[in-house]
Amino acid sequence: MKTKKRKISIIGSTGSIGRQALEVIEKLEDKFEIIALAGGNNVELLKKQAEKFKPKYICHNNPSPAFQAPSPARRSIRRGKGHKLLYGSEGLEQICSNKENDIILVACSGKIGLKPTLTAIKNGIDIALANKETLVMAGDIVMNEAKKYGVNIIPVDSEHCAIHQCIKDIKLVDKLIITASGGPFLHKSVEDMKNATVEQALAHPRWNMGKKITVDSATLMNKGLEIIEAHHLFGFDYDKIEVVVHPQSIVHSAIEYVDGSVIAQLGLPSMHIPIQYAITYPERFEGIKSKSFSFSEIARLDFEKPDFEKFQTVKLAYEMGKIGGTATVCMNAANEEAVFAFLDGKIKLYNIYEITKKMCDEHTVIKNPSIDEIFAVDKEIRQKTKEYILKFI
Ligand SMILES: NC(=O)c1ccc[n+]([C@@H]2O[C@H](COP(=O)([O-])OP(=O)(O)OC[C@H]3O[C@@H](n4cnc5c(N)ncnc54)[C@H](OP(=O)(O)O)[C@@H]3O)[C@@H](O)[C@H]2O)c1
Repeated sequence: MKTKKRKISIIGSTGSIGRQALEVIEKLEDKFEIIALAGGNNVELLKKQAEKFKPKYICHNNPSPAFQAPSPARRSIRRGKGHKLLYGSEGLEQICSNKENDIILVACSGKIGLKPTLTAIKNGIDIALANKETLVMAGDIVMNEAKKYGVNIIPVDSEHCAIHQCIKDIKLVDKLIITASGGPFLHKSVEDMKNATVEQALAHPRWNMGKKITVDSATLMNKGLEIIEAHHLFGFDYDKIEVVVHPQSIVHSAIEYVDGSVIAQLGLPSMHIPIQYAITYPERFEGIKSKSFSFSEIARLDFEKPDFEKFQTVKLAYEMGKIGGTATVCMNAANEEAVFAFLDGKIKLYNIYEITKKMCDEHTVIKNPSIDEIFAVDKEIRQKTKEYILKFI
């Protein structure tokens, strides 16, 4: 019996999550039809993806005149067997308001994910959400809109995907336990961390990811963002969300039921699994599974308490999450700008926390902000952070 193909679009198809999603889709080609692929600057890769997967639309955000005017690269995209070329945020809006889509994978990094996600929700399209910044910036609005329009938000982040898989009856869950690999500086001194090079910060021991999230994993801000993401996705108070360091990244997270029973989700560290789970939910397929899980091969699993004095970003995220409103918008914007400055060699790794903390300390929080207020605060903080960063150069 033939089943109907699920129609999917990917925002951020040229990134780490987007590329792995296409590997999953290639394995499950009889299950999916790609409506649109959207990337940022990497038009050459987008073009190759379009040739292979034949979406109806492709969208990029490369401002280079070479891609704005007729040129060999753009002409070859246009010739690409009938797909329509879209551009920039308008293009993303067009993709996300296309009701042909059953599901949209939001896999771009940073604040770009928020608007397309809200547009897709308003059009009743389910979301596979990798872009955690969307919930950090506007979790209350996004989750309320999803409820209003009857839309599923299925997490792609391995920790939240693990929790999603463990929960049977959310009313009976007492606590969420989020695991953290600890990143490249887990057992290094604070001094080593302060003087880390970009190369060292990008050398994550377990996961191969985009640069922004890899730096966030080195400072552990990624775990801070995930705590806020979990609060919104599952509706738990911050006091009921615990972080535990687990360097092997085998236990992807766990939940504790009211009776003390703990259910964890385990698997080899591969983002293919949570991506596949999210885009095929509620079904499950063998798909991209490469190797069977073996406890005896893994042999040992370690757990330890996170050092919040060394990784102060996690403490800051708990604080900002509890304050709510635009506190997390401010933290996200300042952190993102500081990470870009670190990657550009303008500041040291430890300055990321210091800069973010200063912006948070000086921010006047708006409680229950509208989406326009969120974008206004985001813009203001980014500007202020960039100006402050000049003092470090
Ligand atoms: N990577 C992981 O393992 C992982 C795990 C959990 C959660 N996440 C989350 O998933 C998100 C993506 O992470 P990633 O590691 O895949 O990042 P990444 O490798 O940096 O990819 C980011 C993607 O966003 C695209 N993009 C940038 N600007 C855009 C724009 N204006 N319009 C459309 N697309 C744009 C990029 O396009 P170009 O490359 O063409 O410029 C690229 O396709 C992040 O929020 C991250 O926190 C990632």
